[in-house]
Amino acid sequence: MSILITDLETVVRDAGSIALAHFNDLKSLSVNKKSPRDFVTDADVAVEAFLKATLTEKCPEYGFWGEESGQSADQSARWVVDPIDGTHSFSRGQYFWSISVALEIDQELILGAVYAPALNDYYTAEKGKGAWKNGLPIAVSTESNLADAMVATGFACLRSYLTDNNLERFGRIAQRTTGQRRFGSAAMDLCLVADGQVDAFWEQELNLYDVAAGALIAKEAGATVTDFRGNEGVFPKQILVTNGKIFDQILPLM
Ligand code: IPD
Ligand code: CA
Ligand code: CA
Repeated sequence: MSILITDLETVVRDAGSIALAHFNDLKSLSVNKKSPRDFVTDADVAVEAFLKATLTEKCPEYGFWGEESGQSADQSARWVVDPIDGTHSFSRGQYFWSISVALEIDQELILGAVYAPALNDYYTAEKGKGAWKNGLPIAVSTESNLADAMVATGFACLRSYLTDNNLERFGRIAQRTTGQRRFGSAAMDLCLVADGQVDAFWEQELNLYDVAAGALIAKEAGATVTDFRGNEGVFPKQILVTNGKIFDQILPLM
């Protein structure tokens, strides 16, 4: 691997400065719709252009897949990037949005970084070496009773006319947990499980760039990462991440 996790942090934090410049000048921000419920701003495009140019210059051996610019030729070893995860929140001046960067080699997630510039929180993980927040090690929560748990989800699936739109599932789980949250950035949702702030997160119809970095961070922090049937792995179309202790209780409700 030709980049140190500390070098990656410098690049991602520089990307955060670009995002914050736009965030602090929202009246000049251009917001467009890619689809009825999918937004893109000039901040998304600028951040991704910076990350693509910088990462491919530093590591020419890796390809690049970004939400806004698509996939480069080589995809066996690639950066998987969501330049701003939570664009809707970003465009409204809310603080819960993040920059998500993962390095995937031969379908293995090797490095992950999720940076929330407005909150000044930087989450990172390297495969087999643990997960960190702002330079300190993090771990999932100890909550073992679903009834006392706080959970998070999202509604990407409301964008398409799926019969399963997560609303019934949310209702089932909301009745059996204490706290429910919809933060608006899937990458951050995964980091909150890793940091023990939330006990489980699930969502459907995401893309790999939404979840790649956060899933590695969560896994390295001790989380289970499965699909809705409990199969281990990162399944963006159906991802369930838990602290492990409530996994058996929440799985039957998925
Ligand atoms: C969105 C966020 C949101 C999730 C949406 C995603 P974007 O990412 O992750 O939490 O529910 O489905 O599209 O579009 O702001 O990059
Ligand atoms: Ca996203
Ligand atoms: Ca995005």
